[in-house]
Amino acid sequence: MLERPHGVCPRKDFKFRLLNGEHEYSASVAKFVTGEADELPDAVTAEAVSKRFSSTMAVNRLGLRIRQGALFGLLGPNGAGKTTTLRMIMRMILPDEGSLRVFGEPLSSRAQDAIGYLPEERGLYPRMKVLDVLAFLGGLKGLNGSEARRDAMAWLERLEINDWADKKVVDLSKGMQQKVQFIAAILHHPRLLILDEPFAGLDPLNAALIKDIMLELHGAGVTVILSSHRMEQVEMMCDSICLIDRGRKVLDGVLAEIKRQYGKNTVRVEFSGNADFLDQPSVVEHVNRFGATVEVKLRPGADAQELLRRAVTNGTSIRRFELIEPPLNDIFIEKVSERA
Ligand SMILES: Nc1ncnc2c1ncn2[C@@H]1O[C@H](COP(=O)(O)OP(=O)(O)O)[C@@H](O)[C@H]1O
Ligand SMILES: [Mg+2]
Repeated sequence: MLERPHGVCPRKDFKFRLLNGEHEYSASVAKFVTGEADELPDAVTAEAVSKRFSSTMAVNRLGLRIRQGALFGLLGPNGAGKTTTLRMIMRMILPDEGSLRVFGEPLSSRAQDAIGYLPEERGLYPRMKVLDVLAFLGGLKGLNGSEARRDAMAWLERLEINDWADKKVVDLSKGMQQKVQFIAAILHHPRLLILDEPFAGLDPLNAALIKDIMLELHGAGVTVILSSHRMEQVEMMCDSICLIDRGRKVLDGVLAEIKRQYGKNTVRVEFSGNADFLDQPSVVEHVNRFGATVEVKLRPGADAQELLRRAVTNGTSIRRFELIEPPLNDIFIEKVSERA
């Protein structure tokens, strides 16, 4: 946690401070927090947006509504169209069709200043020094030099790479460069933070550092869009999601509601010994194996107790037996196969 106010966004209608874990919301964000958010425009609205690259329909009539304050997951396998969608929101490429709005406004450089973006292909000026590059990028987003340097230094400390502030970017490891690029995305206090595969290539400790800051910013009212092909990695963080596949939306909405629709039709079992209890086609639809833990999708109407009974009869040692909602990955597979 930073020791002093994290800062104030240049936009008058949005202020936040991160000070010892306390958040101060602006009037508009406070309305969201208290549930009086009807009049707030969505952070991002996409209507029937399409983008084609020669024969590939990268994004196909995609519609999205991302409400302000969301922690939104844009999920789907490699090649689904996530990066293309985010690049269109960033105005780096133009849609062939459809419309995009950010905070209710058509895309413009003013709207762009309210966004922080971590691109999938990382790349900072390799010959520049870390602190210089951050001050430079902060300057492009309207921060003055001393402010940018002070805040960049605080973030470098927070991300445990302050010893590298005077080193050239090229001399940093890939993981360190990614942390510097993450700082570049948040330094100007964006209201909307777009992170394209932010955890790719990071070890668990560094991924946790980034995740914690992301959650803090979200707690302070920043809208976060996170893209990932690792569904299990993000389903615990996001409150709402859009699953895409081959450019098309498969499913979207509030994650808890999506899961509730499917009900608790899966059993997570941690066991050792005889695994024969899983071999019950009348009860078990399919099994995902993760070594000592398995996730068993039950057939509709099947009784989970059947599994437990058989395991006990077989002398299998059960450490955990828990009825859960299906993992997002299973919902995705089910939805995609329904469409096929
Ligand atoms: N600049 C480009 N030129 C040609 N094809 C592209 C380009 N960018 C993306 N694609 C294609 O569009 C599809 C979607 O890609 P992308 O948006 O990067 O997916 P994701 O981020 O979900 O992995 C893929 O088939 C990819 O090969
Ligand atoms: Mg991508």
